[in-house]
Formats: sequence, C-alpha cells, structure tokens
Amino acid sequence: MVSISEPIDLRSDTVTKPTPEMLQAMMNAQVGDDVIDIDPTLQQLENLTAEILGKEAAIFMPSGTMSNQIALRLHCDRGSEFICEADCHIHHYEQGAYAQLSGLVAKTIAGQGGALTTESVEDTISPENEHFLRTRLLCLENTHNRWGGRIQSQAEIQKICSWAHQNALKTHLDGARLWNAAIASGLTERELCEPFDSISVCFSKGLGAPVGSALAGPKSLIAEARRARKLFGGGMRQAGFLGAAALYSLQNHRERLIMDHQHAEQIGNACENNKAFKVRDHRIDTNIVICDVDASVTTAANVVDQLNRQGLQCLSMGRQTIRFVTHLNVSGQQIENACKIIETCV
Ligand SMILES: Cc1ncc(COP(=O)(O)O)c(C=O)c1O
Repeated sequence: MVSISEPIDLRSDTVTKPTPEMLQAMMNAQVGDDVIDIDPTLQQLENLTAEILGKEAAIFMPSGTMSNQIALRLHCDRGSEFICEADCHIHHYEQGAYAQLSGLVAKTIAGQGGALTTESVEDTISPENEHFLRTRLLCLENTHNRWGGRIQSQAEIQKICSWAHQNALKTHLDGARLWNAAIASGLTERELCEPFDSISVCFSKGLGAPVGSALAGPKSLIAEARRARKLFGGGMRQAGFLGAAALYSLQNHRERLIMDHQHAEQIGNACENNKAFKVRDHRIDTNIVICDVDASVTTAANVVDQLNRQGLQCLSMGRQTIRFVTHLNVSGQQIENACKIIETCV
C-alpha cells in the first residue's frame, strides 16, 4: 500500500487555488463599479476574451451555468425549445434551469461519445404548427464533460452548425473547457468558435481562476446578456478583483494545459494496468479520465472509498464508473504517486 501525506485531489479541475502570481494580479487590480458603469479590469478581460474567441464582444459571468442559461434565454423565446445532446452539462447538471427560469424545453438527442451528427438532428425541428413548440437553437459542448473531456470533430461541428443556420436556428457552444480542446487539437479558439453564434467559456476550470466565466457573441446579444445577468442577480460591483485572476489565467495558463493532458494520459495508463478498470473507449483526449469498474470485482463507490483512504480523491459517476480530472494544482510527483495507488488498488 502506497502511503502519502497530502491528499491528491483529482475530483475536478474546479478545485484549484490561485497561484501566488495570480493572487498578486488580484491584489494589484484596478477596479470600478461594474454595475454603475465600468470596471477597467473586467473591460480588459472581456475585450481579450472576445478577441481570442473571434467574437464582437464578451461579458464576464459568475459561473458557467449562468453564462449558458443566459445564452439559452436570449436565443429562445419563452415556450420554445432547443436541441442538445442528452448527456450535456446544460441538460444534465443545471437543474433544468432553462425550464425553471426561462420557460424553455430541451429536445435531447442521444449522441455518440457526446457528439451529435447532422444525420442525428435532421428530423428534430418541430413543424410550424400549433401542436408544437418552436425550435430555436442548437447547443453543443466541447470538450464534453460527461464523455471524458472528449473533443468533438470540428468538421462535424461545421456541418451541423451550417445545417442549423440553414434552418434558421441559432447555435451556442458550451465551451467550459474550450481551452483544452484548442491546445489538444492544435486549432485556435477562434477556429473552434467560428461556427457558433455564442460561446460560454470558463476561467475557473483548467485555467485555474477561482471564479468566473464569460459569454461571447455579437454586440447586440452581449448587451442583452448584461441585462439578463442583472436580472439573474449576477451584477457584480468591484468584480475586477475576480476579473484579474481570470485575466491572469487567460494570459498565462492556456499553454500549460498540455501538461494536464499528459498527466491524464499517465492516469489512464495506470487504470489500464489494473485488471479491475477500463478507460472508457480506451480514449483520453484532454484532462478527464472516465474509467469503468469491473462489476465482478467491486463498485465505483468502493473504489472511491479505498482510493480516498490512500490519499487519492476522485469522483464516482454512477454505480460502475469513476472519474479523474487533472489540473494545475497537481505536480508530476503527485501524478506518479496517484498512478501507483491506482495500479495496486482493489
Ligand atoms: C461543460 C460544463 N459546462 C458548464 C459548467 C458549469 O460551470 P459552473 O460550475 O461554473 O457553473 C461545467 C462545470 O463543471 C461544465 O463542465
């Protein structure tokens, strides 16, 4: 049994704490009142985000959930529907907020590895007829959280978004981990975002900021998003202190994601070295490892428990599935220790 002192936390890439340099940037932030008029640091962050994503404008949001939900609300009128993949975060993990807050319905389509194809959605737009909801929007997620940080095929994304636009649908991307998709695919964020009318990105995941997301899109949409953010209680005053952390993360932490991906690969190999585990589809694209536990050996809950006792934290994603996520607060040494624990457990 490998024993270590400090727990290695691979539950999520949201667990990171600001680095000393990021804290310094927060301390030095120039701030204003972003609700009354402007906060200069947020303005800088929003401009840089819009430029990187190749959109006219962007707005800082307290969370990815709010960013997604405001996009849905603005693209769809009350009592209409949007098309999304059945395992996506917007549908699966946001309490059906689109229904609760905006009177919308999700038309969920089962994807392959979290991806929708044009063929799978072709027949999903409701006819203009008083029996049906009006279909307004197509939502995709890249990388896909529940499918292990999987990167969607950009060729397929272009195809499905052109289909959506030809059919008068808007397109929204939940790009909470877009940065991971960019570094792993070699495509720029701008290229990945090009087919979409709006994009939500998070600074508080792989980039390591303590709080914050942004919604990007056309100026007119972002002006409306500002109103909706206030309505949802997300108007923040001296938010530049948080914006400074996000700005620092955007300027300094994108390139290093490659290291998180290498660490995920190591964790995946360790799982494959243990007969009780199988990495989902033997595939790891970015920083998330989804691992199925052999039911004849034990359950996910037991594995999580045992790993926990050995100082390695991960999450159970159902009866027979566990998840590891790598991030900037785990060192190479910790990853090596984690691998030894995984290889010898159960
Ligand atoms: C793909 C995806 N979208 C949206 C979110 C929501 O972000 P937040 O936790 O900031 O609300 C998450 C959070 O993990 C996510 O993984």
